[in-house]
Amino acid sequence: MTADPRRTVRIVPGGPIMVEGPVCIEMPDGSTVESDRFMVAICACRRSKNYPLCDTSHRRRAKPARTVTAQADNAVAN
Ligand code: FES
Repeated sequence: MTADPRRTVRIVPGGPIMVEGPVCIEMPDGSTVESDRFMVAICACRRSKNYPLCDTSHRRRAKPARTVTAQADNAVAN
């Protein structure tokens, strides 16, 4: 009995692409990045400091708009 050769790839909205490992990722410059993990998170946002692997930088967002509004309110008050 042979194992199913298909791999599961899951796209996380706003996050990484999850791929069953181990993987060898070929970069545009010809270099390779390998991971032996059971599940590998590949960065889809390009913000990772460990690109092409996700480092959860996709979770960081700009400051909420209300901070900008508060600054604008302060500017009007002054
Ligand atoms: S998807 Fe997680 S850092 Fe880019």
